[in-house]
Amino acid sequence: MAAPQVVSAVLFLVVSLFTGCEGFGSGAPSGACTTMQPGHLDSNNATVSAQTSTSPYSIVPGATTYTAGGTVSVEIRGPVFRGFLLQARRPGMTTPVGSFSDAPNNTKLTTCTTAASSMTHANTEAKENITLTWTAPSPAVGNVQFV
Ligand SMILES: *[C@@H]1O[C@H](CO)[C@@H](O)[C@H](O)[C@H]1NC(C)=O
Ligand SMILES: *[C@@H]1O[C@H](CO)[C@@H](O)[C@H](O)[C@H]1NC(C)=O
Ligand SMILES: *[C@@H]1O[C@H](CO)[C@@H](O)[C@H](O)[C@H]1NC(C)=O
Repeated sequence: MAAPQVVSAVLFLVVSLFTGCEGFGSGAPSGACTTMQPGHLDSNNATVSAQTSTSPYSIVPGATTYTAGGTVSVEIRGPVFRGFLLQARRPGMTTPVGSFSDAPNNTKLTTCTTAASSMTHANTEAKENITLTWTAPSPAVGNVQFV
């Protein structure tokens, strides 16, 4: 049996709630797959920048290690939110690894590089403390981070 691989979490970016013009109500756009930035536009059609203040959200893996092909739960915890994009990545890499399944209500699996490698919102319903299910790649790929 392969040695367990380390799992950690990095909060890459959380986008605040927008009432602005350009929304992505049915899920993150494919253009966000690598940057993790949705590219919302403000009222002057300028791209909204990421916040620099401390995020009120945390990404909480249900385990600190994984094994090849095993599942790990991961929770997005904090106040109510509407939109998100979540992936598992190798540190310093931008390609998602593994796959998600069992999308909770108001969320969906989405394709970034490979099918079901990312999860996003399915609608603009309020979401709070959602738990997602990630299946590790097989063979294992070393340390991963949820971003
Ligand atoms: C923003 O872009 C939309 C769509 O191209 C356009 O209809 C609108 O007039 C633009 N608004 C401003 C302030 O430039
Ligand atoms: C969600 O998690 C936060 C932080 O742990 C907690 O304060 C809040 O009560 C939780 N909300 C629900 C609906 O469980
Ligand atoms: C998910 O949505 C279905 C259909 O609307 C509903 O029956 C179910 O109770 C919901 N589950 C949760 C955990 O909210």
